Parts: sequence; structure tokens; C-alpha cells
Amino acid sequence: MKTVKDYIRTIADFPHEGIMFRDVTTLFADPRGFRMAIDQLLHPWAGEQIDKVVGLEARGFILGGAIAHQLSKGFVPIRKKGKLPGQTISQSYKLEYGEAIMELHDDAIQPGEKVLVVDDLLATGGTCEAAIKLVERLGGEIVGCSFIVDLPELGGRKLLRDLGMQVHVLCE
Ligand code: PRP
Ligand code: ADE
Repeated sequence: MKTVKDYIRTIADFPHEGIMFRDVTTLFADPRGFRMAIDQLLHPWAGEQIDKVVGLEARGFILGGAIAHQLSKGFVPIRKKGKLPGQTISQSYKLEYGEAIMELHDDAIQPGEKVLVVDDLLATGGTCEAAIKLVERLGGEIVGCSFIVDLPELGGRKLLRDLGMQVHVLCE
């Protein structure tokens, strides 16, 4: 039987020379693969209270939307600077290849709400760390963070665990 990893393809030198880009669009396009990924991303949080699912731009929206639907909970996007229309709070962060700012609507999470963070890939952990800070600045409590892929050599999982986060990944 195929695993989640079998559906992911690697594209060399995208978006820059030297980056091996782990492309999950091939996983998303396959009905068995996509369902397997959503079920497995949710698996460790069964029985936990989750009030909101937060997805990180861009592929975290696809996963987060499906997960929120499965849980019958709300979905909240964390987006790159300048994309959200309402009042936002901002957090800068470093990427494997650059620097950026993430934003969250300032009324999207209520104090005390339990939040699951989802994204396709964990590299340095900078994007997710920024997301965690944004959620916590609004008083949200992170239940955990789920990713399809972890790139262990970039240290993201250790960074998030050192922040006290529960981290779940489907493959390396
Ligand atoms: C990728 C990926 C994660 C982030 C992980 O997104 O989808 O969100 O990088 O990297 P990090 O752990 O080093 O922070 P990217 O920044 O390429 O943006 P995109 O989803 O908008 O293409
Ligand atoms: N984001 C950061 N590094 C990445 C990689 N190697 N593949 C896909 N997305 C990424």
C-alpha cells in the first residue's frame, strides 16, 4: 500500500538553485493520498478539544480547510503581509530562502480558544514560530502543530519542541 510520502514529488532547484522542493500538489491531487493525509494529520489530536484550525499560507489553507470541515470547527488563515483585509497583527520571520512577515486578523482567535496549526512542510520552523506567536498574542492556546513533511536537517521540529509545542509530522 502507498504511503503519504509516495505521493510527494521533489522538484530540484525550485524556487532557487540548490533547493530540493517537496511538492505536495501530487499528494493533494490523488483522492486516496489526500484523504490519507488529512486523516493522519488529525490522528494524534483525537479526543483533544480544538476550537479553531489555523492554516499557514498557502498550502496550509488546503489542509486546514479540510481538517476544519472534518472537525466541524472554524478555519482561520495566517497570511503573508498585505493579504488580509481587516485589522491585523504582524510577525516577521526568516525562511530557508528569505525573510517575510505573517499576519493574522486581530479578532480571529478569542482568548482561551484551543488552536491546531497545520501546514504542508516544516523546514527551519520560522513560519510556524511566527504563527504560534501571533495566535498566542491573541490569547489562543496551541494544542499542537501538524505537518505533512519535516526536513529534519533544518531543525524546525527541535525549535518548535523547545518552544513547548507538540509536533506531529507524517514523513521526513
Ligand atoms: C513553505 C511551507 C511552509 C514554510 C516552511 O512555504 O509551505 O509554510 O515554507 O518553512 P520554514 O519552516 O523554514 O519556515 P513558503 O514560504 O514557500 O510559502 P508559500 O506556501 O506561500 O509558497
Ligand atoms: N519550504 C521551505 N523549504 C522547502 C522545501 N525544500 N520544499 C518545499 N517547501 C519548502
